[in-house]
Amino acid sequence: MAGIYIHIPFCKKLCHYCDFYHVIAQDDNSAYIDALKKEAEMRQNYLAGEPVKTIYIGGGTPSVLTAGELENIIGFLGKLFVIEPENEITVELNPDDITGNYLKELRQININRISLGVQSWRDEDLKMMNRRHTALEAQDAIEKSINAGFENISVDLIYGIPGMGIDNWASNLDKTLSFDIRHLSAYHLTIEPGTVFGRMKEKGVLEEVDEEESTAEFNLLIDKTTSAGFIHYEISNFGKPDYFSVHNTNYWKQVSYLGLGPSAHSFNGYSRQWNIRDLKKYIKALKGGKLLFEREELDIKTRFNEYIMTSLRTMWGIDLEYVEKIFEKEGYDYVVNLSGKFINYGLMKQENNNLVLTNQGKMISDNIISEMMMPGEK
Ligand SMILES: C[S@@+](CC[C@H](N)C(=O)[O-])C[C@H]1O[C@@H](n2cnc3c(N)ncnc32)[C@H](O)[C@@H]1O
Ligand code: SF4
Repeated sequence: MAGIYIHIPFCKKLCHYCDFYHVIAQDDNSAYIDALKKEAEMRQNYLAGEPVKTIYIGGGTPSVLTAGELENIIGFLGKLFVIEPENEITVELNPDDITGNYLKELRQININRISLGVQSWRDEDLKMMNRRHTALEAQDAIEKSINAGFENISVDLIYGIPGMGIDNWASNLDKTLSFDIRHLSAYHLTIEPGTVFGRMKEKGVLEEVDEEESTAEFNLLIDKTTSAGFIHYEISNFGKPDYFSVHNTNYWKQVSYLGLGPSAHSFNGYSRQWNIRDLKKYIKALKGGKLLFEREELDIKTRFNEYIMTSLRTMWGIDLEYVEKIFEKEGYDYVVNLSGKFINYGLMKQENNNLVLTNQGKMISDNIISEMMMPGEK
């Protein structure tokens, strides 16, 4: 089983926090679609014939493409790869791109999961982040998606927004959970260097929220989603039973994936590679039959550290049997010895043969992960 990620790097307006590779949307997407198809063709053997269970079209803003353009890409992949009939095909949508007709067309081309970037229900937050839509438009987008027959709907929210505060975060969660959605991704705002927010922080006009507020908002997120029947299956991800993101879960479970498009990453168990973050160079190179990327072969220590980093963020935690099988006695002893102190502090617990973070541990997951990694890779 494998996955395919397709990056659509176009945005109509650039959000002040966002560090994902994007350029301003253009009128004609044909050169880009041709390049994507060329890359897929050139890398047909990357997944070594493994059947593809999930396709994730992310961005940037995939909803700047017409349903016909998306169908063109997905249909082409279907000729090159074996797509499993029981699949998950996700598209990220920006609320302001959505019409009932567009959603109907997406259903017709077998898109079965959508991820809507709502971010906040407060217009002042949306404006501050330079989002293109209002809260009302986001509401309309969710309602239209439900009416179009989408069952597997995910919403993205951001917390830890300066000026939002815990009470508004509580209202944002209540409003989100009042819809019949099956999945929520909630990210703490990261102020990335090189973004507008990054520059504002450098100038001292934007300050990150303090740790106390971050922790309180994270706690509230866990409480409210859990009470609403969601399972906290990864630090930033909450799903109703049977509605976890299969694609993202596979990233965390070391399943191979092929990433197409500028900046897209790929993984095949032994190496990672990432495409150039430059649309023009990406298209030009592919026209000449060349792909511009960098690759890192993963030595055993890097694989171990990647496993610790991803597994500890999930509800399944570190599988000790897997650790012993792949990382042998040295890896197993290392994990068991180090985990003792976290278990004593109530930050980690052993469930059957797995080590998982407690809710208290999740609050400081980054610190625990960093301590659990083998030196040299921190
Ligand atoms: C690939 S991005 C954007 C998807 C889509 N274009 C949109 O804007 O809704 C996926 C999600 O990452 C989150 N995100 C991006 N940058 C972030 C940041 N700096 N801090 C916190 N969350 C961020 C947002 O919630 C966003 O919806
Ligand atoms: S959050 Fe989405 S719409 Fe905003 S700049 Fe990033 S990718 Fe584009």
